[in-house]
Amino acid sequence: MNKLLNRRQFLTAASGATAALAGSLSLPALAAEGRERVRIGMIGTGMRGQVLLRELLRRDDVEVSALCDIEPIMLGKALAQVEKEGKPRPRTYGDNGDKHAYRAMLDAKELDGVIIATPWEWHAQMAIDAMQAKVPVGCEVVAGVSLQDHWDVLNTQLKTGTPYMLLENVCYRRDVMAVLQMVRSGLFGELVHLQGGYQHDLRAVKFNNGDPAKPYGSGVEFGGKGWSEARWRTEHSVQRNGELYPSHGIGPCAMYANINRGNRFTRINTFATKARGLHEYIVKQGGAEHPNAQAKFKLGDVVTTTISCENGETILLQHDTSLPRPYSLGFRVQGTNGLWMDVNHGIHIEGISKPHQWDDFQGYQDKFDHPLWRKYAEKASGAGHGGMDYFVIHAFIEALKANAPMPIDIYDAVTWSAITPLSEQSIAQNYQTLDFPDFTKGAWAKRKPIFAFGDKY
Ligand SMILES: NC(=O)c1ccc[n+]([C@@H]2O[C@H](COP(=O)([O-])OP(=O)(O)OC[C@H]3O[C@@H](n4cnc5c(N)ncnc54)[C@H](O)[C@@H]3O)[C@@H](O)[C@H]2O)c1
Repeated sequence: MNKLLNRRQFLTAASGATAALAGSLSLPALAAEGRERVRIGMIGTGMRGQVLLRELLRRDDVEVSALCDIEPIMLGKALAQVEKEGKPRPRTYGDNGDKHAYRAMLDAKELDGVIIATPWEWHAQMAIDAMQAKVPVGCEVVAGVSLQDHWDVLNTQLKTGTPYMLLENVCYRRDVMAVLQMVRSGLFGELVHLQGGYQHDLRAVKFNNGDPAKPYGSGVEFGGKGWSEARWRTEHSVQRNGELYPSHGIGPCAMYANINRGNRFTRINTFATKARGLHEYIVKQGGAEHPNAQAKFKLGDVVTTTISCENGETILLQHDTSLPRPYSLGFRVQGTNGLWMDVNHGIHIEGISKPHQWDDFQGYQDKFDHPLWRKYAEKASGAGHGGMDYFVIHAFIEALKANAPMPIDIYDAVTWSAITPLSEQSIAQNYQTLDFPDFTKGAWAKRKPIFAFGDKY
């Protein structure tokens, strides 16, 4: 226990120093005391939690020591995963349906870290409680719901010094990381414009018939009669109009543009189309007589956000989850020498490509493959989302073990995630352009990309 307390005190000091010096410490100075194995708890063992749990269970340096979920079926599925891997049975919390059972798990002082994979509305409170209990946090996207949530999460992290990482997995996508290498090598010249988004037909996720065995597209129920994300996520489409899921798109763009590390978002505005897709889906699948055909959805089908940056770049994000369409995050990275777009697997570099023609991206992918992918591709194969879930868990666990700063840190988390409440405000105020809050309070100008994402893990 003493060792644990010592380590926690150390973590607190290390993170506090990191925050105060805004990235000017060197890594070895922080890694005075490492450890080889960490005890991890999970809050939320639903569909996403189970994917992350699989990654944790594959590792020899992780003991999954506690699981918390208020839905017995989800908790049971997670326990079955642990048993199948032949690992010791973790303690369980929430079996009795107590929504605050996770606090007992945090207070038991038996964890070196906790992963939060619950509905969005719980993330800020759970992360704050964990940081106050000195349990380092790996939080699923997003960091919070309201703007105040984001300030509260940030201020708690700064006050407690407890490590916090946003588990944004798309930053670890293989092509996204290769493009990071290209950006850093200057292949695109000076960056001018970036695009990304969340363009994913979620209609079959937002509705089902409530049967745990058929979570996708089995019906048109949501809320209390739905299962998994239909139970909670769809209500956000009823109540809110904005860029509801920004981090998959903005995460890579922010890393390319060195946001919070010499650059920052300055202004933001958002436009939204009319809302048609979810209603039409209900009518098509359930009939016009189904009670949910009366539901009114506030979320525009296509929501478009523009952000300006201190160094002169613009970033365009699109949220598009209610219409039929193939999946695409719609990345585009454009500089003075050329551009990459993921949707056509195309790249054009002046002086190399024929004028006005696209080249296939594969040759560039092979040449600029990120060292992390070269090293761990085999281990990542079979992991969720084409391998990137291996990397996001790997990064969290390795940083924890080394007492190192989190590669996607608290400033990244709140800056990316606060796009949602700001976009809602912009739409509500007739598409007004708003100032983007500077969560770093000026430190962005001095922070250096020495701990930048992907350097070590
Ligand atoms: N990064 C990714 O690629 C990715 C993919 C899917 C989901 N997610 C994110 O993961 C999170 C979870 O999504 P999901 O698909 O697993 O949803 P889900 O509904 O399948 O699972 C959420 C779980 O949280 C549990 N829960 C709710 N309130 C709780 C409480 N107070 N205490 C304990 N448990 C509680 C629910 O019972 C449920 O089992 C969301 O934030 C979602 O956006 C991320």
